[in-house]
Amino acid sequence: MNEPHHACAADQGIYDLLAPAALGRYRLRNRIVMAPMTRNRAGPGNAATAGTALYYAQRASAGFIVTEGTQVSPRGLGYPNTPGIHSQTQVNAWRRTVDAVHALGGRIFLQLWHVGRISHPALQPGGELPVAPSALPAHGKICTGRELQPMLTPRALGSDEIADVVAEFRAGANNALAAGFDGVEIHAANGYLIDQFLRDGSNRRTDAYGGTVENRARLLLEVTESVIQIYGADRVGVRLSPLSAYNSMADSAPQATFGHAVEALNRYRLAYLHVVEVTEPQAGPAFDLAILRQRFRGSYIANGGYDYARAQSAIVSGTADFVAFGRYYIANPDLAERFAAGAALNTAAPSRFHGGDACGYTDYPFLDPRQGEQAARLAVAD
Ligand code: PHB
Repeated sequence: MNEPHHACAADQGIYDLLAPAALGRYRLRNRIVMAPMTRNRAGPGNAATAGTALYYAQRASAGFIVTEGTQVSPRGLGYPNTPGIHSQTQVNAWRRTVDAVHALGGRIFLQLWHVGRISHPALQPGGELPVAPSALPAHGKICTGRELQPMLTPRALGSDEIADVVAEFRAGANNALAAGFDGVEIHAANGYLIDQFLRDGSNRRTDAYGGTVENRARLLLEVTESVIQIYGADRVGVRLSPLSAYNSMADSAPQATFGHAVEALNRYRLAYLHVVEVTEPQAGPAFDLAILRQRFRGSYIANGGYDYARAQSAIVSGTADFVAFGRYYIANPDLAERFAAGAALNTAAPSRFHGGDACGYTDYPFLDPRQGEQAARLAVAD
């Protein structure tokens, strides 16, 4: 039998950004991915809204969508108005988004998120300190809704609390399944909880979850295993950001740290690995993405600073199997159609990235207005 993770060229189709391709158990209409992006527009109870459904429905012609980071528990929250997947209200609310995307033939994965230390008592249940692998603060300030606050020193999770975190991710996956999501992406990037465990700059633990790279990767692997039990590995992806220093991240030997993580992930035969390749600021030691990519046996999604030409060349050369676009998707709901037509792109308005209403969210124009009208009809239908 063919093994899905050693797919031959025929399984994978044509090596073209705009051609259909297999990902895990799905056949996607193209190799374009909508990258996960925090938009801070969740409604009461941090539930998705009708606007959320419209926003994602408008972007349903991507090969697949990865939602914005969605906290798996109240403690996983680190920003105002980000959606969750831990209450029944949140599950019901997300169902409308999923149904709208599916009605348009799209695919959508939920990104499972826990921010760890990137939070503030003002955002935490009971006004408690945020939790982290170690009592080491990130630098800088955090927006708690009303004003910027300095980040505080978090509370180190006890050894006996880590199973609870794993259970939160598992419950999040279970809820995502109930909401109808096609799969889930584990957010292990950008300095949030799982990344805080992975890299030694934020993890000084002396138990089984700190010290060696095997120990620092343990939370990632336990979360992955528990989420796979809900969804099956062919519907689960993992996102990493080995180069990024965002959220005060650092590692003394990133090639070894992330090389080990990826090799350990290989045994699960995940749907994909999603790598944030470029971000500012960059972490210290040199890092060779090609080595990381070679070590992973499975579909590789590249993200960070790609335009059409770079994406197409990455697909053609086999450097990436899929390319995820962030900024372009904010301003171009019909990005796939624009790429196919060689059309000009709309420009995103950064002042509207975080929070606010439909302006800068669901009001970017389509090349063909009928595509936008169809998305609007299906997003309001039950
Ligand atoms: C952000 O809101 O700044 C943010 C959220 C999630 C990420 C990265 C950045 O993965």
